[in-house]
This record gives sequence, structure tokens and C-alpha cells, in this order.
Amino acid sequence: MTLPEYLRAQQARIDSELDRLVPPDAAPPATIHRAMRYSLMAGGKRIRPILCLEAARAAGHAGHGVVRAACSLELIHTYSLIHDDLPALDNDDYRRGKPTCHKVFGEAMAILTGDALLTLAFQTLAEVDCPADRRVRLVAELAVASGTVGGMIGGQVADIEGERQTPTAELLDTIHRAKTGALLRASVRLGAIFAGASEAELAALTAFGEHVGLAFQIVDDILDVEESSEVLGKTAGKDASQQKITFPAVYGLERSREMAAQECGLAHAALVDFGERAGRLRQIADMIVQRKS
Ligand code: IPE
Ligand code: IPE
Ligand code: MG
Ligand code: MG
Ligand code: MG
Repeated sequence: MTLPEYLRAQQARIDSELDRLVPPDAAPPATIHRAMRYSLMAGGKRIRPILCLEAARAAGHAGHGVVRAACSLELIHTYSLIHDDLPALDNDDYRRGKPTCHKVFGEAMAILTGDALLTLAFQTLAEVDCPADRRVRLVAELAVASGTVGGMIGGQVADIEGERQTPTAELLDTIHRAKTGALLRASVRLGAIFAGASEAELAALTAFGEHVGLAFQIVDDILDVEESSEVLGKTAGKDASQQKITFPAVYGLERSREMAAQECGLAHAALVDFGERAGRLRQIADMIVQRKS
């Protein structure tokens, strides 16, 4: 299977599980279920759940149960996007090629939709079919990665407060590792923990996740400068207009591209001991750096 075929097949697997997890459009209160589905099913690359599935495979588990754990990552991610787009945060009108959640359903409902996806993520993980000690570990992992101390919310706080600060390399690193890196790192770790990875495997996959996570946000920053809104499915050029602390702002485009490639190389290096089991993870790392949207 080529990489695009493989990615489409995994996306379809994740989408059908998400469809089972979220109440139907018509289930009362219908407005929020429609809003949850609107944002969740608008597309999206599903990179986080796919990394989770592949990390589980690399650690020796190829079964079906891990798809649910993988979906919890997409629920958190979509919640973070809905809130990121709110007028009080990045104030974006366009996401995944469609008007943002608050544009369609209003701000109150968009806030609640984010809350609902966040809550459903933890319900989903708490109901995952695996030994109880692993399940508890998965829940804690996702909570820390989404939280205030080095996690996604902490990163979003630093990102918003950074709009009024001088862009420094140190601040940039802190923001990116937290706002995006933590959830990508957790994506890989959830798969590995679900699969019962050894400590050595978990450490190697964690290193892979950290490098891929940083590369991912470097490329997101570069694309914001270089691509059109049509290609991105979200408003291009937002970071400069909001004086965000980004890789291009601190290092320039050329150096940012080099740094993304360097992180990708380090991600590959972390997988040396996995052989063929990590073939797809290597391809995904390359895709993350080469992507255009
Ligand atoms: C965008 O994430 C937001 C960031 C954390 C940089 P993605 O580029 O994964 O967005 P979707 O899920 O494909 O829409
Ligand atoms: C958002 O980063 C990271 C999240 C936690 C959602 P950005 O603000 O750069 O994401 P985009 O560019 O709007 O997708
Ligand atoms: Mg933002
Ligand atoms: Mg944004
Ligand atoms: Mg961005």
C-alpha cells in the first residue's frame, strides 16, 4: 500500500470509530451533538490517532482495541482547535475548509462543544479495553499532555501571552513543545503504553514523538507564511498579523526549514532498534515535514 492509500485507510478507520463515539446529530440536546460532529467530521489529517496506532504496532500490538485510545487524541485535538479559533484566542473564521464552530453555532455553543469533546475524550479512554493498570496510565498521560504544566493548555497560555513579548528562541521552544509537542508526544506514548511496550521501547518512541512534535509545529508556522488559505483550509498569514512567536519570526524561513529537517532526522534516529515495525512511523515523520497543508 502506498503512503497516501495507507493514510486514507487509517483515516477511515478513525472516522468510523469517532462516528460511533459521538451521539447522533438528532440526539438531544441536538445542537451540541451537531456542533461536535460538525467540527470533528470536517476533515483533518488525523495525524495524532494515526501516530498512536503506529506506535502500538511498533511496540508489537496490531489489534483493533487501540483505535478507541487513538480517538481520544483526536477528540482533545479538535476541542483545542475549536477553542484556539474563538474570538478571545486566535479569532479565526475558517478551519478544516469550513467556517469555524463559533461562526456556525455561536460562541457559547463553541465553548461548550470544546468542553464536550474534552469530556468525551476521557470517557473514551476510561472505557478502553485493556488491563486496568494500563488504562489508568493512559488517562493520566492524556491529562498531563493536555494540561497546564508543559501541556497543551500551558502552551496556549504562553502563545497568547507571547503576542506582547519579544520573540526569543527560548520562549519559542517552550511554547511549541507545550502547545503542540505535548499532544503529539502523548499520541505515540498512548499507543506504546496500550501495547505494553518495554521501558526501552517507550523511551525510544517518546523521543521520536518529541522530535516529530517539534517538527510538526515548525512546519505549521512555515505553512502559515507560505501557503494560501485555500490549500490550508484555515486562514493563512495569521501569525504575523497577530505577532505570534513562531519559528519563521525567530529564525527566518530558510533556517526554520533546516530545523524541521533536523528534527525529522532525530526522529528517524530514535527508531533505529525497531526495524521494519516502524516503517510507517518513519514515513509519517517525513510526511509531517514535507506536507503542504
Ligand atoms: C493544526 O493541527 C493545529 C496545530 C496544533 C498546529 P493539524 O494540522 O493536525 O490540523 P488538522 O487536524 O489536520 O485539521
Ligand atoms: C494551535 O496552534 C495549537 C493548539 C493547541 C490548537 P496554532 O494557533 O498555530 O494552530 P492553527 O495554525 O490555528 O491551526
Ligand atoms: Mg493559536
Ligand atoms: Mg490558531
Ligand atoms: Mg498555526
